[in-house]
Amino acid sequence: MTRFVLSLDEGTTSARAAVFSEEAELVGFGQYEFPQFFPRPGWVEQDPEAIWEAQLKAIRDALRTAKVEPSQISAVGVTNQRETTVVWDARTGRPVYNAIVWQDRRTAKFTDELRNNYAEFFKERTGLIPDPYFSASKLIWLLDNVPGLREKAEKGDVKFGTIDTYLIWKLTGGKAHVTDYSNASRTMLFNLRRLEWDDDIVELLKVPQSILPEPLPSSWNYGDAVEGVGAPVPVSGDAGDQQAALFGQAAMSPGEVKSTYGTGNFVLMNLGFDPVKSKDLLTTIAWGLDKRRVSYALEGSVFATGAAVQWLRDGLKILDRSDEVESLASTSRDNEGVYFVPAFVGLGTPYWDPYARGVIVGITRGTSRSTIARATLESIAYQTRDVIEVMEKDSGAKISRLKVDGGATRDRLLMQFQADVLGVPVVRPKVLETTALGSAFLAGLAVDLWSLEDIVGKWKPEATFYPTMLEERREKLYRGWKEAVKRSLGWARV
Ligand code: G3P
Repeated sequence: MTRFVLSLDEGTTSARAAVFSEEAELVGFGQYEFPQFFPRPGWVEQDPEAIWEAQLKAIRDALRTAKVEPSQISAVGVTNQRETTVVWDARTGRPVYNAIVWQDRRTAKFTDELRNNYAEFFKERTGLIPDPYFSASKLIWLLDNVPGLREKAEKGDVKFGTIDTYLIWKLTGGKAHVTDYSNASRTMLFNLRRLEWDDDIVELLKVPQSILPEPLPSSWNYGDAVEGVGAPVPVSGDAGDQQAALFGQAAMSPGEVKSTYGTGNFVLMNLGFDPVKSKDLLTTIAWGLDKRRVSYALEGSVFATGAAVQWLRDGLKILDRSDEVESLASTSRDNEGVYFVPAFVGLGTPYWDPYARGVIVGITRGTSRSTIARATLESIAYQTRDVIEVMEKDSGAKISRLKVDGGATRDRLLMQFQADVLGVPVVRPKVLETTALGSAFLAGLAVDLWSLEDIVGKWKPEATFYPTMLEERREKLYRGWKEAVKRSLGWARV
């Protein structure tokens, strides 16, 4: 009987589910958006129960379109928007508050203090730079602001988790309270080398130990899915979405780099077993295939790329659909000197400025919606170059090609401009649902459906974009971008 793997890819704006065949072909798919809440400027929340509902509907669609019975599924993999923080009642399973999303900036003052006093300590232990981005300060905000929560937490009446933890808890009917090393490494509470919650950090931040999930490898049997799938299938893959994409790109060798184009862009370089330290990049856990050792990655996190296109659609309303951006942008020959820095929620790598805000500069009377669309697409490529520049400096390795994935990589104009602005080829794989594929691989690996060699053999390129722009022009454009960024930094403090 043919076997299949079900992959749940719970992203920032939608929950997806994908069914892959034994040949690693995508045979079924479902996707549902869920509401986003912006209660105050800089705050971003989601309802965990709405995420679960969207995920259930996506699973149903994926199985239906694949024409696969739940009993034919060999394993379930979970991958997720990272850092987003949920606390729920251990008995009823009800969230005590909305999920605080990774983009949320409400804890900027608190993390400023941590950065001023403990930056080196956090870098050393967690690989991260204190920032509102990571889960720790969001969890502390909840403990300090939801009435009675700290007392409940101290009594062990509530559980904390990132979205993977919450979904696995739901899938296993409340049996497994777990996370994987890659997700744990985004909380700012996890010791990167010892592969356990860092006692000193937990004590410093006064986090009750009992609410933390058990950290486990990314390919592991966490328990059977008794809810949501329709058959008791082992849940055996768990990884943060960016790490799953690196795995799905079969970037198993040190030095390989991928960029995923989603709400934000996340560029990861495989470091092998050596957690190289970097000033402006994050050192993070790529995955752990067993309890003994893990693979590390250097990461550059760009917060708003696809989100900028969505803003053209929902905020400015100059697009009906996000995928129209390419045709609109291509009616403009170039950016006409206009730059858009979409620092809606501050800037991540390499600026790390939670107070930066969006700017559009260089507007003239001739600027049209197509110029703005063009500047938006270009901003995605410039922000990716910002990361690659630091990555090359800090790793000492020259990047010879960039593997890309995510929906926006269908956009040929963007891919060509990305290759031009980087001066290196950009390679797009056959399966663009690389995140879901990576999580399927991790789940399939745990149930012996595939070996690591099989996985590497299944990665296939579909298109390569070669740089054609003259160097002088490339550098001139990029200098313009850097000037534009300077104008956005610190704006929320003005
Ligand atoms: O760290 C945040 C990241 O995991 C979000 O990914 O694809 O939902 O934008 P995405």
